[in-house]
This record gives sequence, structure tokens and C-alpha cells, in this order.
Amino acid sequence: MTLNPKLTKLLNEQINNEMASSYIYLAMAAWFEQTPYSGFASWMFNQSREETMHALKFYQYVVDRDAKVELETIAKPKTDFKSPLDVFQQSLKQEQKVTQQINDLFEVAEQVKDHASKNLLLWFLNEQMEEEKTVRDMLDRLKLAGNDPASLLVLDREAGSRKAEALAEQSAT
Ligand SMILES: [Fe+2]
Ligand SMILES: [Fe+2]
Repeated sequence: MTLNPKLTKLLNEQINNEMASSYIYLAMAAWFEQTPYSGFASWMFNQSREETMHALKFYQYVVDRDAKVELETIAKPKTDFKSPLDVFQQSLKQEQKVTQQINDLFEVAEQVKDHASKNLLLWFLNEQMEEEKTVRDMLDRLKLAGNDPASLLVLDREAGSRKAEALAEQSAT
């Protein structure tokens, strides 16, 4: 079944959106590298890698459907932040934006009755739910920690170890 042109265009846009996300997280990682928070830096670095994997998943899907991949310019990410809380607030906003994009994509896939695309997009919708939840949990605890350095360092250490675990799980499957 040929991929619908409108859907093809949107899937290509999503390759770009995921690469832009990856770049946003890489900029966040780089910002954290300039602070004592090495755990948050590795969290954001791993997050960036995950977004690249998402872009590649969309890329592969477009290729597998025998449609044309068209790559566009990736926007320059914001490089300056006020605090860990500020970074995580922007991270949540970014995830919510992506959830909206994938929701819209799903709607188009439904309109053109492309069930294979719907299946792919369902995977992404579940992924988005997970990611939003993870960021929201950390955000809640960052709010609780406020400006207390000891509490922030506990969260930083946790951020560093949790992401390492997630990656180990991923490579084991
Ligand atoms: Fe993503
Ligand atoms: Fe994400």
C-alpha cells in the first residue's frame, strides 16, 4: 500500500522534530556539564540519544514503506538555562509538544485508514506517556528540593543511575 502523500510529509516532519528534540536535549546536557550536576548531564545526554533513535525509527519506517525521506534543517536549540528546575520544565514542555505532534499524526493515519502507520504511532504514543511521566516525576521532586544543595545532589545522583539502568535494560532486550 502506497504511503499517503500527506502522511509521508508529516512523517518526514516527525524525523525532523525528533532530531530537533535530540538537539534540544544535547544542549541541556552540555549546559549541565558546566555545572556540578553530572547525573543530570548524563540523563539529558541519554535522552538526546533516545530522541535520535526515535528519528531513525521514523526514517526506517518511511524507507520501509517505499516513500521518500526528505531531511530538513534542524533548528538551533536554546543553550542557556536558569536552574535544573528550569531545564526539566522545558523538557516537559518539549515532550508535551511531541505528544501533540504524534497525536495529530495518528489522526491523519486514521483518516487515510493506514493501519500500519497507526500501529507505529501507537508505539510512539505509549513512549510519550512514559517519557512525560518520568519527567513529571523528576520535576515534582525538584520542586520539593527547591534550592537545597544536598537534596539537589541526591536527585542528581538518582538521575545519573536511573538512566544508566534504563539503557542497560534496553540493550539487554
Ligand atoms: Fe521522541
Ligand atoms: Fe521524548
